[in-house]
Amino acid sequence: MGDRYALVGNPVAHSKSPVIHAAFARATSQDVEYSLIEAPLDGFAATVERFRAGGGRGLNVTLPFKQEAFRLCSGVSARARIAQAVNTLVLETGFGDNTDGIGLVHDLSRNLNYKFSNVLLLGAGGAAQGVVGALLEAGAARLVIANRTVSKAQALAARFPGASACDYDGLEAQFDLVINATSAGLADEAPPLPPGILRSGVLAYDMVYGRETPFLTAARRAGARACDGLGMLVEQAAESFFLWRGVRPQTRPVLEKLRGA
Ligand code: ATR
Repeated sequence: MGDRYALVGNPVAHSKSPVIHAAFARATSQDVEYSLIEAPLDGFAATVERFRAGGGRGLNVTLPFKQEAFRLCSGVSARARIAQAVNTLVLETGFGDNTDGIGLVHDLSRNLNYKFSNVLLLGAGGAAQGVVGALLEAGAARLVIANRTVSKAQALAARFPGASACDYDGLEAQFDLVINATSAGLADEAPPLPPGILRSGVLAYDMVYGRETPFLTAARRAGARACDGLGMLVEQAAESFFLWRGVRPQTRPVLEKLRGA
């Protein structure tokens, strides 16, 4: 039996992470098993402890447990501290990291070959929180966070020099990258963007993967380039894999295979 890793979340059933990590393990000859664990909403810590006590080596963490994972760690990386959320746990040491932001940035720069400058980030929840630091570090000259509840956008922006907050009505069309980090798509809704924000020359990126969200549909209709979050998923997985195994897997072949499937 290989070294055991898993994704913990609720729900997790439709995650592509096991397929991605199996492909990384094959390509790098690492003896690794990766499974899915659905933790009860009130049972994240107990689930992690059970997996660790049973010999588990590392965990990825997804909704809705990333903030709780951050609080549970005995030590965290700088980028996890900035995000106040953890998506990768090294169980031998209790160390936590967050590879979401760098996953998004790598997808934009390496897979999509996209150079951005003026960024509009939609949403101010956990998903948005995880990527602000990485986007600024990667060279966003301007980063505006828009949210339905504007106070949440203001609170998030206040933590980052270089970020500012806005409500949807106050937005003006000056962005070359628009990232949907809201959960609106899961309810088949789109963030209420004023006309003109999504247009030709804009990359519209939805952090959700595996579904055509109303945001992506609206972006295509408006002539923008539209992209889902599958590449971000693969890239964040590669960073986690590297953290656990010390080996950096190639992401391109895995992404191409998933896109082709
Ligand atoms: P996550 O961890 O996925 O970010 P969350 O912390 O619950 O989940 O945050 C959800 C985000 O999506 C919030 O920014 C939320 O806006 P509010 O703070 O105003 O609630 C946003 N959101 C959810 N549904 C939305 C919708 N239909 N239109 C616009 N924004 C939406």
